[in-house]
Amino acid sequence: MIILGIETSCDETGVALYHPEKGLIGHLLHSQVDLHSEYGGVVPELASRDHIRKLVPLIRQLLNNCQITPANLDAIAYTAGPGLAGALLVGAATAKSLAWTWNIPAIAIHHMEGHLLAPMLEPDPPEFPFIALLVSGGHTLLVGVNDIGRYQLLGESLDDAAGEAFDKIAKMLGLGYPGGPLLSKLATQGTSGRFKFPRPMTDRPGLDFSFSGLKTFTMNTLHKTKQSLQDKADIAFAFQEAVADTLSIKCRRALQQNDSKRLVVSGGVSANNKIRQTLTTMVEQENARIYFPRLEFCTDNGAMIAYAGCQRFLAGQRENLEIQVKARWPIDQLL
Ligand code: KG4
Ligand code: ZN
Repeated sequence: MIILGIETSCDETGVALYHPEKGLIGHLLHSQVDLHSEYGGVVPELASRDHIRKLVPLIRQLLNNCQITPANLDAIAYTAGPGLAGALLVGAATAKSLAWTWNIPAIAIHHMEGHLLAPMLEPDPPEFPFIALLVSGGHTLLVGVNDIGRYQLLGESLDDAAGEAFDKIAKMLGLGYPGGPLLSKLATQGTSGRFKFPRPMTDRPGLDFSFSGLKTFTMNTLHKTKQSLQDKADIAFAFQEAVADTLSIKCRRALQQNDSKRLVVSGGVSANNKIRQTLTTMVEQENARIYFPRLEFCTDNGAMIAYAGCQRFLAGQRENLEIQVKARWPIDQLL
């Protein structure tokens, strides 16, 4: 049994083949970073057009590389939301058309479920139940995961997601797109202790996040300096440290409140070194275990969609050929 996975929710075209016993057979990714960089952020219309250009050739190349023919495929899983509507529609329309042509089912996958299950692609995956921190460009979620499809939303960002905050601060500091990795690189030149930024919403109970006040605080601090490279690096350091500590405080609380000893951290921001270190230290103090996807599967990719698709296929999920996407789709509405 082989599942083809397709990811086109934002600025990466990802495809992968997954086999339930053999695991990941192959995967390919085309990043649109060069396309969007001159605009300083993702331009949705350009993203959709590029997915149209790249997706089918990428699928063909993947099948060739892995010596798999369409006759070997059992289903096609695609990201149906949340994400950019136009970009999602390219993946959905392609998946449904190929599924119809090859006479196999298509399976709609929730993008954040893909991120949530990405650590399952690693050699020593977590057992259920666990707590998941999903930190991406569009979402910051804490989820209680009892099993595949059994998700309890414990907390979420009330305004900017963590990745969005990284991207906006990076823009403010005059760094390019994508902001997260560039800010993190600049922070390595920063001085520890020069600035201390707030850890938002950690002084009250609850597991929700809010990064927009931290963004304003960072902007005000920047404007009080001469905005030299060292000032910017020190600010990047303090901002990153504040985000890392905030995530860590909330994750510790989630583990304790749910009496859990397993934390999964996934989504683009989980590629951040400082955040990985801070969370790892906290989890060790809690005598718990932490699970990350490998770096290339922290950000958007086809492998996590193929994996989620395989689990959904095995659980009997099927759908008709109607092409539908959901730009907004709360994860706790998944069955
Ligand atoms: O999961 P992802 O690839 O796409 C979404 O589903 O949104 O996440 C992209 C986000 C962007 O905001 C990007 O700046 C952030 O992840 N990101 C990082 C790092 N790598 C990617 N943020 C901080 N540090 C990084 N190393
Ligand atoms: Zn994502």
